[in-house]
Amino acid sequence: MSEDEELEDLSGVGSKTAEKLRDAGYDSIMSIATMSAADLSEVADIGNKTAQKIIKNARDELNLGFQKGTDKMEERENMSKITLGSDNFDELLDGGIETQAITEVYGEYGSAKTQCALQAAVNVQMPKEEGGLDKGVIFIDTEDTFIPERAKQMAEANDMDPEEVLDNIYVARAFNSDHQILLAEKAQEIMEENEIGLVVVDSLTAQFRSDYVGRGELAERQQKLNKHIHTLQRLASAHNVAVLVTNQVLSNPGQLFGDPTNASGGHIVGHASSFRLYLRKSKKDKRIARLVDCPYLPEGEAVFKVKNEGIVDP
Ligand SMILES: Nc1ncnc2c1ncn2[C@@H]1O[C@H](COP(=O)(O)OP(=O)(O)OP(=O)(O)O)[C@@H](O)[C@H]1O
Ligand SMILES: [Mg+2]
Repeated sequence: MSEDEELEDLSGVGSKTAEKLRDAGYDSIMSIATMSAADLSEVADIGNKTAQKIIKNARDELNLGFQKGTDKMEERENMSKITLGSDNFDELLDGGIETQAITEVYGEYGSAKTQCALQAAVNVQMPKEEGGLDKGVIFIDTEDTFIPERAKQMAEANDMDPEEVLDNIYVARAFNSDHQILLAEKAQEIMEENEIGLVVVDSLTAQFRSDYVGRGELAERQQKLNKHIHTLQRLASAHNVAVLVTNQVLSNPGQLFGDPTNASGGHIVGHASSFRLYLRKSKKDKRIARLVDCPYLPEGEAVFKVKNEGIVDP
């Protein structure tokens, strides 16, 4: 059975359940195979046991589970990278931002997180031989900081048609954390109809921080955030896209979640991302990106600048 077959072909899924799942953005066997039983039972309004069975069936159909090293290698061979336009940056990341993974860009306000996100959104559209994927982007904007004029500037600097570049950016503004979760789930639909190479969430955590303020709400916040990240991981692996999320470091140690050296969202965000980039401001409007805890690349730093044309080497 291929990934494209109907949900109804899956043993245990009737037409009503299939409809509910499709409405929630789960329309392939793969999307079911990578769900948690709790999520499936909630979305489809079925019991946990049934959900577990359906997920098992989906995994059996797709032959998930143990893989040989050679299969894993083949999967990795489909992985590609998006240049960030600065040689220093690309060297740090051994070529750029990877597909099939989440890259978390964190740092304090003004450290250029949004600039990196915009640059990736433009560069993913470049031809492959220039370091892009020749694909479009989904941009989930939670702080109303997506500025089309800025993307246009970067596109012009790349000799790309700015109108075309904007046309290939699907922007959605998330008004609260639940809306943000929903938008990530809906992204699946856009991805089935369009060639998408990158999903941006800028910022991953801001809405969650403002929706769950008290200490008593911390557990619920982490649970929701965890679910959201799970959705993003599923998008990354099922569709071979890069996911870039931003996360603000709180510089005031007095604040609730305020360890100034830690990105907010706690360890859930940290462990889910394959790449963590810590950005900080440096002298003479230089900026430094540090690669933290990468499973296979050395820790290191890259110096870059933000100019009119975008992210550049100093
Ligand atoms: N056209 C430009 N030319 C030069 N520098 C620019 C330009 N546009 C933005 N910048 C720089 O980028 C900085 C803003 O970076 P950015 O918005 O990416 O920060 P951020 O890390 O997303 O912050 P926040 O946490 O507030 O969202 C500005 O302070 C400015 O220094
Ligand atoms: Mg920002």
